Amino acid sequence: MKTYNVCVIKGDGIGPEIVEEAVKVLDSVSHKFGFELNFDYHLMGGCAVDIFGVPLPDETLNAAKASDAVLFGAIGGAKWDNLARHLRPESGLLKLRKELGAFANLRPAIIFDELINASTLKPETVRGVDILVVRELTGGIYFGQPREKHEKSAFNTMVYSYEEIERVSKIAFEAAMKRGKKITLVDKANVLETSQLWREVVAEVAKSYPEVAVEQMYVDNAAMQLVRDPKQFDVLLTENLFGDILSDEASMICGSIGLLPSASIGGKVGIYEPIHGSAPDIAGQGIANPIATIMSAAMMLRYAFNEAEAAQCIENAVKSVLRDGYRTKDIAKFDAKEICSTSEIGSIISDYTHKF
Ligand code: IPM
Ligand code: MG
Repeated sequence: MKTYNVCVIKGDGIGPEIVEEAVKVLDSVSHKFGFELNFDYHLMGGCAVDIFGVPLPDETLNAAKASDAVLFGAIGGAKWDNLARHLRPESGLLKLRKELGAFANLRPAIIFDELINASTLKPETVRGVDILVVRELTGGIYFGQPREKHEKSAFNTMVYSYEEIERVSKIAFEAAMKRGKKITLVDKANVLETSQLWREVVAEVAKSYPEVAVEQMYVDNAAMQLVRDPKQFDVLLTENLFGDILSDEASMICGSIGLLPSASIGGKVGIYEPIHGSAPDIAGQGIANPIATIMSAAMMLRYAFNEAEAAQCIENAVKSVLRDGYRTKDIAKFDAKEICSTSEIGSIISDYTHKF
C-alpha cells in the first residue's frame, strides 16, 4: 500500500483543535482511497518555546525535512508576544518555510454558493469568485537584512533577487494556465524599487506564456478592487507582505477567515496550512472553524501525494456539509440549520467523505 509520512504540527491557540479534525478527515479518505498516512506529531511555536526554549526545535525541523508533507495549524499568542523576535512563535514558522524552501504560497479564495450570504459583500458581487493568491513566501521584508529595532528608531529591509521573483512567477503562470489564464501582478511600483524589479521579471517570464494575460495593479488599488469587484481577478501574484494582507482581505469576501486553506510549496517538502492565525481568544472553546485546515489537508493530498480523487472527495464533502446547513459559529448567522462545534463539524465532514 502507498504510504505517506505527514509531519503534523498543531501549534498554539486553536491549532490543536483544528488540526485534529483535519487528521480525522484524512484518516477516513485514506481508508477509502487505499493509501496509508503516518502521522508524526511535532512541536512548533509557543508550545515549543515553553518546552525547548525555541520556537522551532531542531527535532521538529529535521522531522519536517524527512517527511513527505507538513500539516500545520497555527502559532502564536499573547503569552509569547514580548519575547525577543527570534524567540517568538512566528519566527519558528518563518524559519520552517525558509528551511523547507517553501517560496510559493498558494491561497485559493473561492466562494461556496452555500455561503454566499456569509460574505459581508452583496451576493451579486461575490457569486462565482474564484481567486488564487500566489504569495511569495520566503523573501521580501519578512526576511530582508539588515533589520534593527532601537529605542527611538527601527528599520526593515525589503529585498528581492531576480531569481526569487522568477521562480514564484513561474508557479503563478503555470497555475494561471490551468485556470482563467490571467495574472494580476500586485505591487507598489510607483514607490518601490523592488516592485520595479518584479515588473521586469514578470514581463520576462510572461514571454514563455503568451496565452496568459498579465496586468499590473498597485497594491492600494488592488485592496480597493478586491471589495469593489472581486470577480475581475483570476491569479493574484504578489510579494510576501502584500500577499499576507490581501489574502486576509480575500478570505472575508468568502465569508470567514476560517475557510481559506493554503499550500506553501517550491521545495522538496510542502507545508499545508490555513491562512488564519491561532485565534487565542476562542482557543479551547470548541468553536473554531476547522474547514480551512481540512481544505489545506485536501491541498496536501493533491499537491504532495498526487491523490487528486481523495482531495476532491474532501472538497465535495465540505461543500455538501455546508449545503446541508451545518455551520460553525463564525458562519452560523447565515442559513444555519445546525450550529456545530469544531469536532462535530469535523466528524460530519469525515462521515460525508463516504458519500463521494
Ligand atoms: C500567515 C500568517 C503568518 C505570516 C504569521 C503568523 C507569521 O499571518 O500565514 O498569513 O505573516 O505569514
Ligand atoms: Mg497572515
